Amino acid sequence: MGSIYITRKIPDLARRMLSKKGFKVVVNGQAKNLTKQQLIDVFGEYDGVLTMMTDKISEEIIAASSGKLKIISNYAVGVDNIDVMSAKHRGIAVTNTPAVAGESVAEHTFALILALKKRLLEADRFVRLGKYGQWDPMMFLSNQLWGMTIGIIGLGRIGTHVGYIAANGYKMKILYHDIVRSEDFEMLTEARAVTFTHLLKETDVVTLHVPLTLATVHLIGKKELKLMKNTAILINTSRGAIVDEKALVWALENDEIAAAGLDVFEREPLVSRELVTSSKVILTPHIASATFETREAMARIAAQNIIDVFEGKTPLGLVKVD
Ligand code: GLV
Repeated sequence: MGSIYITRKIPDLARRMLSKKGFKVVVNGQAKNLTKQQLIDVFGEYDGVLTMMTDKISEEIIAASSGKLKIISNYAVGVDNIDVMSAKHRGIAVTNTPAVAGESVAEHTFALILALKKRLLEADRFVRLGKYGQWDPMMFLSNQLWGMTIGIIGLGRIGTHVGYIAANGYKMKILYHDIVRSEDFEMLTEARAVTFTHLLKETDVVTLHVPLTLATVHLIGKKELKLMKNTAILINTSRGAIVDEKALVWALENDEIAAAGLDVFEREPLVSRELVTSSKVILTPHIASATFETREAMARIAAQNIIDVFEGKTPLGLVKVD
């Protein structure tokens, strides 16, 4: 069929599916990302590349493809790491792994919300430090999540699942903001579609589920953080650059918002010292979709996207550009 390079070790299912179809598959055997030069070499040699969201596939790298490269199959929902236009101009398909991460990312979103609300990190440290001398009726009090209002920015698969958990698990009131309305979602969760400003002003938890595009870079900056309630928390499991991190640090230091739960960072994998030393944040290393179920499903779709392109079919994950 052709030759495929997989830039990091992922569930073996992808390699098996491709091999079974007759592809020659090579997997990067090292537990680290390829360098730019290694990516250039791979793009020059293979018929298809299965990339990670940490591979920056720039115009320069795409230009190094030999003319036989047919597909860049990204092992992620987001494709902000790829110059999709440049690939399109060269007739190279770009695909993602849609529709598989909703449940896992929504669960992680709630893990962050609950950890902040219940002060889990603080309480755990308290016990480990031997400070639990006696039970105190006034110790570690927090407001319950039940009945609070959540604001969902971006109502794709992930935002929708967050809504289901919020409505069914915690009887939360839901406000959402998206370019399209979903009457089904509204009917199932009693959610209301509101303006961006209204959502920021009226919710106790603001959670971000939009893709990173030119329009969403720094969607949340100083102005937006000031609009939020002082008691509100911000959750970001989408892409780091959607939040202006400097503005976030400022907002936390000045009590403009109460806390933040972050799975993604502006200069990932670098995390600013201000965030690392802040007691008002919980930080995780971009693992919101890291469940066995989702990673396996991502491997299946990423491989199937490649198979479909080589078989002349339209792959499920084809990224369309205008
Ligand atoms: C992870 O962040 C993804 O885009 O799948």
